[in-house]
Amino acid sequence: MTQYSKRIVILHWLTVLLVILAWYLGDNLAEATDNSKATLAGYFLHIFVGSVIFLLTLSQLYFCRKDGRPSSLPDKPMHKIVAKYVHYLLYVVLTVLPMSGMTIILTSKVGRALVAGDANLLPKEDGFKDVFAQVVHEQLVNVLIALVVLHILGAIKHQFIMKDGLISRMSLPKKD
Ligand code: HEM
Ligand code: HEM
Repeated sequence: MTQYSKRIVILHWLTVLLVILAWYLGDNLAEATDNSKATLAGYFLHIFVGSVIFLLTLSQLYFCRKDGRPSSLPDKPMHKIVAKYVHYLLYVVLTVLPMSGMTIILTSKVGRALVAGDANLLPKEDGFKDVFAQVVHEQLVNVLIALVVLHILGAIKHQFIMKDGLISRMSLPKKD
């Protein structure tokens, strides 16, 4: 086996696109909340995209177990360990981050506003002051960014310095 299965490749790149979207939507949502301009649609959209990421991540884990992974490329032992743990932590963050988002909904005024369909009930400026899950969510986003940067640096090192074609392992197979 020299590359990931087609369904894992599709899940990987779909997750990448949705993580960028969720991050962008979440950032706009936080700004809108600070300016007391957040809307129900803004929350629903962010929650929807974040929840899809959660499901895609669990599916990717499941399919990696079912379809297998290509064996790791030759590298310095230390770099192999870093890559292994970065992948592991990406899975952890991509499951715990949406769970912390769900906890914000349950432990702040957001849940009541969404159920009532009333944007006036949404938290205003400093509305998340005592909501611990919001601090966790915000910090996990920073951890995710750091992991993604490490992950991309690793991919660039393999692709352009070691020239071992790593990215083709996470690409759709070429038709002959
Ligand atoms: C991987 C998925 C997700 C990413 C990358 C993400 C990203 C973000 C970001 C960047 C923020 C702004 C943080 C800040 O500066 O305060 C945010 C806020 C928020 N997110 Fe997420 N999120 C994700 C999933 C979810 C899910 C699944 C939910 C709910 C079920 C959720 C609910 C919220 C809420 C309620 C806020 C608070 C808005 C505010 O601070 O005003 N998120 N998210
Ligand atoms: C939000 C951004 C990203 C996330 C969350 C992410 C997540 C992951 C995860 C969890 C794996 C491990 C798959 C497994 O073996 O279980 C993986 C593998 C991989 N990713 Fe990403 N990735 C992201 C962005 C990227 C980008 C931008 C690139 C290309 C520059 C990339 C290239 C790869 C490659 C080539 C592999 C396979 C590594 C190997 O064969 O050892 N990823 N990614």
